[in-house]
Amino acid sequence: MARITLRQLLDHAAEHDYGLPAFNINNMEQGLAIMAAADKLDAPVIIQASRGARQYANDLVLKHLIDGLCEVYPHIPVCMHQDHGNSEATCATAIQNGFTSVMMDGSLKADAKTPADYDYNVAITKRVADMAHWVGASVEGELGVLGSLETGMGEKEDGHGAEGKLSQDQLLTDPDQAVDFVNKTGVDALAIAMGTSHGAYKFSRKPDGAVLAMHVIEEIHNRLPNTHLVMHGSSSVPQELQDIINQYGGQMPQTWGVPVEEIQRGIKHGVRKINIDTDNRMAITGAIRKLFAEKPAEFDPRKYLKPAMDAMEKVCSARFEEFGAAGQASKIKVIAMSDMAKRYERGELTPKTTGVACAAE
Ligand code: G3H
Ligand code: 13P
Ligand code: ZN
Repeated sequence: MARITLRQLLDHAAEHDYGLPAFNINNMEQGLAIMAAADKLDAPVIIQASRGARQYANDLVLKHLIDGLCEVYPHIPVCMHQDHGNSEATCATAIQNGFTSVMMDGSLKADAKTPADYDYNVAITKRVADMAHWVGASVEGELGVLGSLETGMGEKEDGHGAEGKLSQDQLLTDPDQAVDFVNKTGVDALAIAMGTSHGAYKFSRKPDGAVLAMHVIEEIHNRLPNTHLVMHGSSSVPQELQDIINQYGGQMPQTWGVPVEEIQRGIKHGVRKINIDTDNRMAITGAIRKLFAEKPAEFDPRKYLKPAMDAMEKVCSARFEEFGAAGQASKIKVIAMSDMAKRYERGELTPKTTGVACAAE
C-alpha cells in the first residue's frame, strides 16, 4: 500500500470517532515493532521522526526503511511524519525524503528552545502549510508551549523544548487564538499545550485537572469541531515499565505520565493524534536490562533486541486498542499525494472555521 497522508488518516479517525497513536522511531527495530502490532490488529500507522532521529538514522536509510516496512505490510497504510520541524528547510527536506506529513513547530524559534511570538508562529506555519499542500503533504502546527503546569518550567529534555520559566498564557493554548491560528495558517492538525511535556518526568503525582488541563481541549474542540487536535508528550509512563527498569539496575525516580483514560477523554473531544515515544523507549530499555541481568554472558544483539521489539510491540498494541484504531486499516483506501494536492487546490480541505467561533461565543 502507498504511504498515506496524515490528513487522510485523521479525517478517517474523526469520521469514525477514534484516535491514532503516533510513534517515534529512530531505528529498524522500532519500525518493525510498530508494524507487527499494526498488522496483528489491522491498525493504520503514524510513524514519526524527530530532527534528532533523522540525524541519527540518516534520511536515506529512513526513507528506505519505511519503503521496506510498506512493502512487507502492503495492507497497512503508513503515514511518515516529521516531528517538531523547526524551520521551512527541515519540513521541505522531510517531504523530499518521502515524508507525507510535517509538523512545523512555530511555538518555538528555529533553535527549538526560545518561545516564539504569535505573529512569527502564524507566518512560518502558513509558509510551510502552503508549500506542503502544493504537493499534497499534510501539516501539523503547534499553538502554546509545552511545559509543566506544576512547576511552570519549559520542558527542555532530550535537547528539545523551551528553556526556563513560562507564563500560564504560554502553557495553555488560548481557544480564541486557536481559531484565528487555524484560519490564518490552514493547518490540517493542531497541537495544543495543556500541561503535558516530553519525556518520563511529566508529573510528580497522578495528574488531576490542575496539572493536566483537559478542559482546554474541550474548549478548543467546542470552538473548532472540525479541526484535528494533537496531544504531544502523551506517554503514560506505566508503573510496570518503571518497575522493570528499576528492578534490573535502572535508577528512574518515581514519576507519572498521562493516564490512558485522560487520552480517551481527549479522543471524545477532537483529539486524533497522540504522540508517544517515551513509553516505547522504556519498554525497550526494560527488556534489554532484564536480558542483560539474567544472561550476562549474552553478546548477540539479536538476543536482547528481539525481546526489546516484543516489549515495544506490546505497548503499541495496547495503544492501538485503547485509542480505537484497531480494525480500521482495512477500511481505508489511500488517496495519492498528487490527488490530495488537487483537493487542497480546489479548497476542499480548507479549515472550516468561519461561523463556528461566532456560534460558540
Ligand atoms: O519530541 C520528542 C520526541 O520524543 C523525540 O525525541 O528529539 O530525542 O528524538 P528526540
Ligand atoms: P512522550 O515523551 O510523552 O512520549 O511524547 C512524545 C512526543 O510528544 C513526540 O513529539
Ligand atoms: Zn512532541
